[in-house]
Amino acid sequence: MAKTTPRVFSGIQPSGTLHLGNYLGALKQWVPLQETHDCIFSIVDLHAITVPYEPKDLQQRILDVALDYLAAGLDPKKATLFVQSHVPEHAELAWSLNTITPLGELERMTQYKEKSYQHASTSAGILTYPVLMAADILLYGTQIVPVGEDQQQHVELTRIIARKFNSRFGQTFIEAKTQLTEAKRVMSLADPLKKMSKSLGPKHYIALTDDEKTIREKVAKAVTASGGQTTGEMDPGVKNLLVLLKEFGTSAQVKKYEAAYADGSIRYSDLKHDLADALVKGLAPFQERRAKLAKDPKKVWKILHDGAKKARPIAQQTMQDVKQVMGLA
Ligand code: AQP
Repeated sequence: MAKTTPRVFSGIQPSGTLHLGNYLGALKQWVPLQETHDCIFSIVDLHAITVPYEPKDLQQRILDVALDYLAAGLDPKKATLFVQSHVPEHAELAWSLNTITPLGELERMTQYKEKSYQHASTSAGILTYPVLMAADILLYGTQIVPVGEDQQQHVELTRIIARKFNSRFGQTFIEAKTQLTEAKRVMSLADPLKKMSKSLGPKHYIALTDDEKTIREKVAKAVTASGGQTTGEMDPGVKNLLVLLKEFGTSAQVKKYEAAYADGSIRYSDLKHDLADALVKGLAPFQERRAKLAKDPKKVWKILHDGAKKARPIAQQTMQDVKQVMGLA
C-alpha cells in the first residue's frame, strides 16, 4: 500500500566522517520514520562545496555517507535515498527562492556567522546555504524535517521563505516542521562547550567508523570537570558523556553516575570505561554491516541513481508549478 503522508525530508553533507552527533541528532531517528512516513533522504553534496574541499575526494565522501545511511538501517525499498546534485531542480529552485529571501535573515543565521568566522574568505554559498536547504525541503512538499538542533534555525527560515513565496505568488508551499531527538545537540569531547562537528577535527568527535582503540582513546581523553563550576549545574563535559551513556548504555548506569556526581563520589575513569565499552559494543553491528556493504560500491551507486529517478519527478512537478506562478512558464 502506498504511504501517502506525511512526507519527511532530511540530508547530511558529505563533508567528512559521520560522527555520534550526526547519528544521534539525525540518522538514528530516520530509521523508524521510514516505516510509517514517506521518507526522502539526500546526501547533500551541493551544500558540502560551500566550504573549502578536495574535489578528487568528493565522490568517495558521497559513497561513504551512503554506506553510513545503509549500515544505520535505511532501506532503499522503504525510503528514497539520493545525491542532491543528481536532481538539478534543487539548485534551480534555490535561485528562485534567493530572489525573495531577505538578506538580513541570512546574515543573522548562527551557522553563517560561525562558518564565515572559521573560513578566511567566505563564499556567497555559505550565506545562501539556508536557501538551498529551503529548496531541498520545499521541492518535496515536506511536512517533517528530522535534524539536529543546529539546523532548527534553518528550518524556521524555510517556513519564513515558504510564507513569503506564498503571499507573493499564491499558495504553493507547505510549511515544514523540525523534529528533534532527545540527543539533539551532542557536544565535542575535547571542547564540550562546542557542538560535536565534522569540521572541528577527529579529537572532537567519535566517528561511527572509529575502531575500538580509537574509541577508547578518545573517550579517555574527553574533557570532564572543567573546574570553577559555581552554578550548581553539571559540568558540560560530564553531561555530554552521560547523554552518550544514555543512548548506548543503560538507564541504570546513567542513574548511578548522576547520583555519584551529586554526592561528589564520581570517578571519571569508571564512567569513561563504561561508556567506551557501551560505544564499542553499540557500534559493532553498524560497522560489520558497513564493511559488508563497502565491498560492492557499484550496488550502492545504483541505489543512489535509482533514488534520484524516484525523487526527480516530484521535484520537476514542483519546479513546473513554481515557474508557472512566477511567470517563468
Ligand atoms: N553535534 C550534533 N548533535 C546533534 N545533531 C547534530 N548534527 C550535526 N552535528 C550534531 C545533525 O547532523 C545532521 C547532518 O549535519 P550536516 O552534515 O548537514 O551539517 P552540520 O549540521 O554542520 O554537521 P557537522 O557534523 O557539524 O558538519 P560540518 O562540520 O561539516 O559543518 C543535521 O541534521 C545536523 O543537525
